[in-house]
Amino acid sequence: MSEKKRCIGILTSGGDAPGMNAAIRAVTRTAIYNGFSVKGIYRGYKGLIDNDIIDFKTQNVSNIIQMGGTILKTARCKEFTTPEGRKLAYEQMQRHGIDALVAIGGDGTLTGARVFATEFNFPIIGIPGTIDNDLYGTDRTIGYDTALNTIMECVDKIRDTATSHERLFFIEVMGRDAGFLALNGAIAAGAEAAIIPEISTEVDQLEELINNGFRKSKNSSIVLVAESPHTGGAMHLAERVKAEYPKYDVRVSILGHLQRGGSPTAEDRILASRMGEAAISALLDDQRNVMIGIRNNEIVYVPFSKAIKFDKPINRDLLNTLKTLSI
Ligand code: F6P
Repeated sequence: MSEKKRCIGILTSGGDAPGMNAAIRAVTRTAIYNGFSVKGIYRGYKGLIDNDIIDFKTQNVSNIIQMGGTILKTARCKEFTTPEGRKLAYEQMQRHGIDALVAIGGDGTLTGARVFATEFNFPIIGIPGTIDNDLYGTDRTIGYDTALNTIMECVDKIRDTATSHERLFFIEVMGRDAGFLALNGAIAAGAEAAIIPEISTEVDQLEELINNGFRKSKNSSIVLVAESPHTGGAMHLAERVKAEYPKYDVRVSILGHLQRGGSPTAEDRILASRMGEAAISALLDDQRNVMIGIRNNEIVYVPFSKAIKFDKPINRDLLNTLKTLSI
């Protein structure tokens, strides 16, 4: 980062994810360690427009590494999608002397960052923070591991009652059009199947399941369903099964926002710490408009254009693993 860039703004935007606080801490402390000043921007891009910005010292990020959520709060901001809104945001940054921004969030956050960076020729570094793990160019996003563990614990509990009552459970998990949580959650919890959006457009997964003798040798079963219009959601699938197979005792559980909460796992804390540090290293190296990623446990820098444009592919081998292990 060249000499004149001395003040870094930091914000979290979009859906919160466990580990965002660890990332805020890492960015703030690495920046201060390297002689920069830091401004904490509240409520994402909304706070930028509304001038919800304060000085951040190292004490502002004390005792937060273990906390879920984000101390900077978060919001989804319509105004920032307009040129007028972005101009206001830019003016606030100028007023505060902010000359580089670190934005932590998911796809929407990076899309906003990219437009803004191009419009105002402004250096922005993105950190992928979303439980969905759906950003191209990084093996993992901050919050994913914690959410996956939460799902596993919930399904373990549901399994107790499913087994006792000999029921078929459809459990809906988050992922907004991505099956990472559903597929890996199903493997981790020993579920019978996962219904994911990546496959839904190709085949009727429910029909396939039933045709393949689903529940032949079992009295209870668990199916994880990714929330998505492509899968139809757990409720819809359960209704279909109830109508077509009245002998099945079917129940639905929608895990919902509890998947977004909780203290981050060690994995997420370490990932967030590494990514936060890497964001400042990127600025020091005069990089701009890149998302920090992790590939094969090495930090990588992914241009916004790629991270946003491409869909992250699901590992299809895992579908076979799940199928084989659920006999
Ligand atoms: O982006 C994370 C995510 O949890 C998605 O999986 C989900 O669809 C969405 O956020 C729900 O977010 P909200 O309730 O904040 O609108």
